Amino acid sequence: MSLRTALPALCGYRRIRLTNSYVRSQKCSSYAHFQSCSADVNNIDSQNVKAITNTWIRRLQEESVPEADLSVKFITEHVLGKERTRDCDGKENDQNLTKEEARKINELCLQRLQRVPVQYIIGEWEFRYLTLKMMPPVFIPRPETEELVDVVAKHHSLADSKSDKFSFLEVGCGSGAICIKVMQRTIKCRMKRSQVFRNALCDDKAAQNSCLAFFILKFKDLIYFHSYFINFYLLDDASAFIAAATTCVAIDKNEVAVSLTRENANRCNVSDRIVLHRTDVRSVLPLLGSTKFDAIISNPPYIPEQDMALLQPEISRHEDAQALYGGRDGLDVVKDILRVSPAILKPNRLSSVWLEVDISHPELIDQWINSHDLGLKYSATFNDFTQRPRFCHIIRK
Ligand SMILES: C[S@@+](CC[C@H](N)C(=O)[O-])C[C@H]1O[C@@H](n2cnc3c(N)ncnc32)[C@H](O)[C@@H]1O
Repeated sequence: MSLRTALPALCGYRRIRLTNSYVRSQKCSSYAHFQSCSADVNNIDSQNVKAITNTWIRRLQEESVPEADLSVKFITEHVLGKERTRDCDGKENDQNLTKEEARKINELCLQRLQRVPVQYIIGEWEFRYLTLKMMPPVFIPRPETEELVDVVAKHHSLADSKSDKFSFLEVGCGSGAICIKVMQRTIKCRMKRSQVFRNALCDDKAAQNSCLAFFILKFKDLIYFHSYFINFYLLDDASAFIAAATTCVAIDKNEVAVSLTRENANRCNVSDRIVLHRTDVRSVLPLLGSTKFDAIISNPPYIPEQDMALLQPEISRHEDAQALYGGRDGLDVVKDILRVSPAILKPNRLSSVWLEVDISHPELIDQWINSHDLGLKYSATFNDFTQRPRFCHIIRK
């Protein structure tokens, strides 16, 4: 039986790559048990960081809460800030916390004991160098999805290099992780060398960024560069391909998800290039009118029915089930997306559908497309970081 691979507890944390952690922990606290624990932990009245964090790590470990130490670290950093956490670390005997700080750390760790994902507790999470606001029950972006963005950005940056514009539809935007990051990664325009030098001297920030990007392009073998503004695949050409308009329509049937995407798009300065609709993908065609896209991208709900009972408490208790459940075989929303795709994609062979799915799905999707005359062709499957087949590329025939 295959399961989705990332856990919500700390799933977006880039330095830890965890697999198969959707599986329910054998020793899962009941609410009654949690209440009895909270009596204990309310007695943690120390005002020393090390004493509090060590007590909490032990407490969470006793209750088999995943990633106890990292959870406590994130919570402490959230309350104190990274710098103060570092300053306080290791000082065993000081009273280095105020009463209010100690109370806050205890309160948030108590939530973690109740299996609330740490992303919801601290209210934000990192997705490929973006810090996004998180809000229950909106789906927490998983690290594999960062790779979907990489694959899409790479494909469209190269394939579309003759065109200045790239537009896509995201189905099921959740917190906005995919659409915001893809918009940042596929920005491009052509620029002459003479223009590059003029841009360097002007006051316009975007122009200066394009100039910076030009030099990155020229010295790409020497430098590895990521920035808030420019994060793209470098193309070997005398012109620079940077900083123009990728546009996007993003839809989600959950109103909270649409609002969260809007807020995150504002935070990331891409709100002028994104149009949001609250809608089910099955009702999207009238909303789009005659607009056509270069790509449709989605990480849809795809957990098959039989796997839903195996989800970790962090997921089953706190994340929106409609963001997870994909019907009996996990393919309900995938099929809905494929049915509307021919009417939405631009009529050329570069137009693509990109899907993140369960490892059992690529083969089933290929067969389904072959048995339905939709004008689509299964093109390729890409692996995630655990080398498992997770991303499907489908093109127009
Ligand atoms: C797995 S989450 C992905 C969220 C986000 N794209 C990400 O990767 O972090 C799936 C999202 O699809 C939305 N959704 C589920 N069924 C849908 C449907 N039929 N039409 C539109 N959105 C849907 C859910 O509300 C949820 O936000």
